[in-house]
Amino acid sequence: MRVCVTGAGGFAASWLVKLLLSKGFIVHGTVRDPSAEKYAHLKRLDNATQNLILFKADLLDYVSIASAVAGCEGVFHVASPVPSFVVPNPEVLLEPAVTGTKNVLKASLEAKVKRVVMVSSVSAIYMKPGGPKGEVVDESCWSDELYCRTTKNWYCLSKTVAERQALDFASKNGLDVVTVCPSLIFGPMLQSTINASNLVLINLVKGTRETVENTTRNIVDVRDLAAALLLVYENKEASGRYIANSHIRNTHDLIGLLKFLFPNYIYPKSIVEVEEGKVVSSKKLQLLGWKFRPLEETLKDAINYYQNAHLLDE
Ligand SMILES: NC(=O)c1ccc[n+]([C@@H]2O[C@H](COP(=O)([O-])OP(=O)(O)OC[C@H]3O[C@@H](n4cnc5c(N)ncnc54)[C@H](OP(=O)(O)O)[C@@H]3O)[C@@H](O)[C@H]2O)c1
Repeated sequence: MRVCVTGAGGFAASWLVKLLLSKGFIVHGTVRDPSAEKYAHLKRLDNATQNLILFKADLLDYVSIASAVAGCEGVFHVASPVPSFVVPNPEVLLEPAVTGTKNVLKASLEAKVKRVVMVSSVSAIYMKPGGPKGEVVDESCWSDELYCRTTKNWYCLSKTVAERQALDFASKNGLDVVTVCPSLIFGPMLQSTINASNLVLINLVKGTRETVENTTRNIVDVRDLAAALLLVYENKEASGRYIANSHIRNTHDLIGLLKFLFPNYIYPKSIVEVEEGKVVSSKKLQLLGWKFRPLEETLKDAINYYQNAHLLDE
């Protein structure tokens, strides 16, 4: 079985590539610069020497994407920019997310791919005003594009537009596309560069900000997400959207748990109350057979990794 994984060197995609290689898949991984040191971890994965082929491809370059997808039965479209800072120009996010997804889908249709699994986000689900406090939202909900624009939430907009477009493309062209919408992804890293969601956790443990807001955090482990992506790829019954979320904690409780597990760090000094956020439900994915690990395990493994990589020093 030969599959393509876009953005193979990223946080979530690296764990997916590892899982696929362990199951005997031949993986075409797209990266923007195969010779870069930041992808060295991929080449060290078990079975990578025989079964991982890296393709130089940019989401905005159709020809490069098409050559990576050619010959594959399945495509996991994971690549999309995830900023850890406010982006002044929305196109920096929108173009790779939206045009990039269109390129991946077009290439998949041309290559007669059997199923495309696209990684979207809960950002495409819950970003809308109103609703009761602590409202539970499921796959029937979509973020409000106008609200994302007026609040300049370009990341949420990029994921919402890209996912809508993917499902539209699927129904118009008869391409089998399943989307997975993860919540905040935590867990140990395989890659050497720190991605945006791990930075959230590192900043909490280091107490980078003295004051944080008591927001609602929907959290999923990166390894459980990789398993979810493979599950929806392999299960014939899978269709439409799937939320991948395992744990719901407010910042206060998350810091409490972190302090209990790792008492020797600084942590933010004060937590200010804000309006309760929306909670996402993964019932649909669980009905398909998805299981996830306890949050304690995710946090322990992530922080032990940061310690060993000296990311919490100073
Ligand atoms: N992390 C989270 O909490 C979270 C939550 C929900 C959904 N997601 C979604 O999960 C997916 C993976 O996120 P992640 O956290 O693993 O992020 P990540 O580590 O930052 O990985 C993002 C990947 O996208 C690639 N990419 C960005 N722009 C590209 C372009 N123009 N052409 C080709 N590749 C491009 C990057 O490639 P380079 O290596 O070349 O930079 C990188 O491999 C994304 O779709 C994201 O929206 C993430």
